[in-house]
Amino acid sequence: MLILGIETSCDDTATALVADGRAVLSSVSTNQDAFHAKYGGIVPEIASRQHVALLSAAVEDALGRASRTFEDVDAFAVTRGPGLIGSLVVGVAAAKALAFSLDKPLYAVNHLHGHIFAAFLDREVPPPYPFLALLVSGGHSQLVDVRSATAMRVIGRTRDDAAGEAYDKTARLLGLAYPGGPQIDALAREGNPKAFAFPRPRPDAGPREVAFSGLKTSVRYFLESEAGRDANRADVAASFQAAVVDVLMSRVDAAFASGDYRALVLSGGVAANSELQSRARTWSSRTGIQAFIPPPKYCTDNAAMIAAAAYHQRTIALADAFTLSADPSLPFDVGTTTNREGSLASSFRNASSSIQ
Ligand code: KG4
Ligand code: ZN
Repeated sequence: MLILGIETSCDDTATALVADGRAVLSSVSTNQDAFHAKYGGIVPEIASRQHVALLSAAVEDALGRASRTFEDVDAFAVTRGPGLIGSLVVGVAAAKALAFSLDKPLYAVNHLHGHIFAAFLDREVPPPYPFLALLVSGGHSQLVDVRSATAMRVIGRTRDDAAGEAYDKTARLLGLAYPGGPQIDALAREGNPKAFAFPRPRPDAGPREVAFSGLKTSVRYFLESEAGRDANRADVAASFQAAVVDVLMSRVDAAFASGDYRALVLSGGVAANSELQSRARTWSSRTGIQAFIPPPKYCTDNAAMIAAAAYHQRTIALADAFTLSADPSLPFDVGTTTNREGSLASSFRNASSSIQ
């Protein structure tokens, strides 16, 4: 089943052709960073105008690169939400028009579910259910209990800033360009992660919750202090990154301590982070539990993950090409909400260690 995916929830105009929710025939992403960089963040109005200008060409590009035509496409998939409303409507309108005029099925996908299905792309063996997804992006940081493709719920989240947001804001304090995550990642490679002991905040709300605003503020106070003014920027970046990754991995441990998961899936833009990936690999070797880490191109926003999610969720994602509307605050949880967390002991014993 060949699905053409469209993703325009934020600032990337992305399209892709994916077969059977797994094989990526093409994945096109026209990055808008150059248009937003001078404002230090995404300007919604600019993003939606760029989507209008770029989307038709991006659809044709996805077909052309895969040497396919509309005739070969079995269905269309589009991000319905959450995201910027002005950006979402461009993709939704285009997908509706394509599905309606070509008389093919249309699937509406939750962008955050898409991030999770990035771990299924270009892979022979998919992550086994149930698994825990650490979903860390520019707007979200959450732990997700994934029972099946159509039953998943958030079991831990950030109380304030998302991990990517903390990266972007801290990068700004360090004078780095937007988006700051990849910049801090690169700078941190030259620094000492133990140079400065930034806090590892743990909100009172529970062991699976995270909070990053205090960490960012502590970096700011440090940079404004006498010691901070002369501090090596690479050491600051590495120490900040060590704190973020420590916090995230400690929450993964807390979730596994009370859950019956067979695998860990990393997803979202921050999952492209080299230190987080490396720590997840070490974690996998230590625990004997599989860690599924998408390549960086599928961690950040892309349309292949939307096509993959549509395929795996096709029983619940079918939409009406005439009436579908974008939903900027689309809720995350789907399927069962019953608490089925149990003892993890058996899966710790049985799982074989492998990183894919
Ligand atoms: O998932 P994504 O592409 O878009 C959202 O849905 O938010 O995530 C974007 C976020 C940005 O905050 C960016 O700075 C961060 O992911 N990011 C990274 C890295 N690459 C992207 N953060 C840390 N290290 C990276 N290598
Ligand atoms: Zn995203």
